[in-house]
Amino acid sequence: MNIFSLKDKTAVVLGGAGVLGAAMARALADAGADIAVASRSLDRNRAFAAELTSAGHKAIGYSADTTSVDGLKALRDRVLPDFGRVDVLVNCVGGNRPDATIIETDAFFSMDPEAIRSVIDLNLFGGAILPCQVFGQAMAESGAGGSIINVSSMSAIRPLTRIIGYSAAKAAVNSFTQWLAVHLARGGRADIRVNALAPGFFLTEQNRFLLTDEKTGDLSARGKTIVEHTPMGRFGDPDDLAGATVWLASDASKFVTGIVVPVDGGFSAFSGV
Ligand SMILES: NC(=O)c1ccc[n+]([C@@H]2O[C@H](COP(=O)([O-])OP(=O)(O)OC[C@H]3O[C@@H](n4cnc5c(N)ncnc54)[C@H](O)[C@@H]3O)[C@@H](O)[C@H]2O)c1
Repeated sequence: MNIFSLKDKTAVVLGGAGVLGAAMARALADAGADIAVASRSLDRNRAFAAELTSAGHKAIGYSADTTSVDGLKALRDRVLPDFGRVDVLVNCVGGNRPDATIIETDAFFSMDPEAIRSVIDLNLFGGAILPCQVFGQAMAESGAGGSIINVSSMSAIRPLTRIIGYSAAKAAVNSFTQWLAVHLARGGRADIRVNALAPGFFLTEQNRFLLTDEKTGDLSARGKTIVEHTPMGRFGDPDDLAGATVWLASDASKFVTGIVVPVDGGFSAFSGV
């Protein structure tokens, strides 16, 4: 028996057409799962689902705003008839906003609180709490259990400079992951496991403006600092998340709930000295 197999399972990957979400979705599909992929852009999700389908997998793309409970319920009500079940939920929606990023010290005092609030809304509510309510309920009602994987960040452990709302939200995602894991397991739903991945630093569209000089493409001072503080000496490749994703989704981790797994090239282990 292959304990990593996801054959006959359905994975809902929110943010699955994004950079990290796509790598996680491909890994789940390669392990045998059928994939429902959703985020705000229907075209991108359909195109990504077509890529998975042409590789021999079952996959359907949908659009949904995960900060909306009604939007998530509408998504669930389409996914269940299409796939019949939801066994795995990957919450890979999230990101930062330039207007919620502090460059000068005093800018914090005058920053628009709505910018901070919207980043917390996206990463904590849209990126974890609301999908866990809607798809967690589907897992509970099916009686078949499931595995939920939230996507956290290094910024959850100790806040990174500048990204105020993002750091607060990701710290709360870690707390929520532990809270929900305990809540479900002690409430008679130990068959629904809740864990998180905390990726280290991956160069993507959401952070490129911070980590590189947009004109030259060279690493910014911040980008260089990150590589220097990553013992493995490089940014992550999205495929680096594949193994941990399949492990957390599958029976290979069936006694694991409430943990946050760093996939970070050693960043969180390094004191900097
Ligand atoms: N890139 C990194 O270095 C890094 C590091 C740690 C954590 N993360 C986290 O990984 C996750 C994925 O990030 P990424 O780098 O792949 O970014 P990305 O921008 O490529 O993916 C984010 C996805 O979220 C979707 N999305 C945004 N707002 C949405 C909404 N309201 N409703 C539905 N979908 C929405 C986008 O369409 C996209 O598919 C995020 O939670 C991010 O915080 C990224």
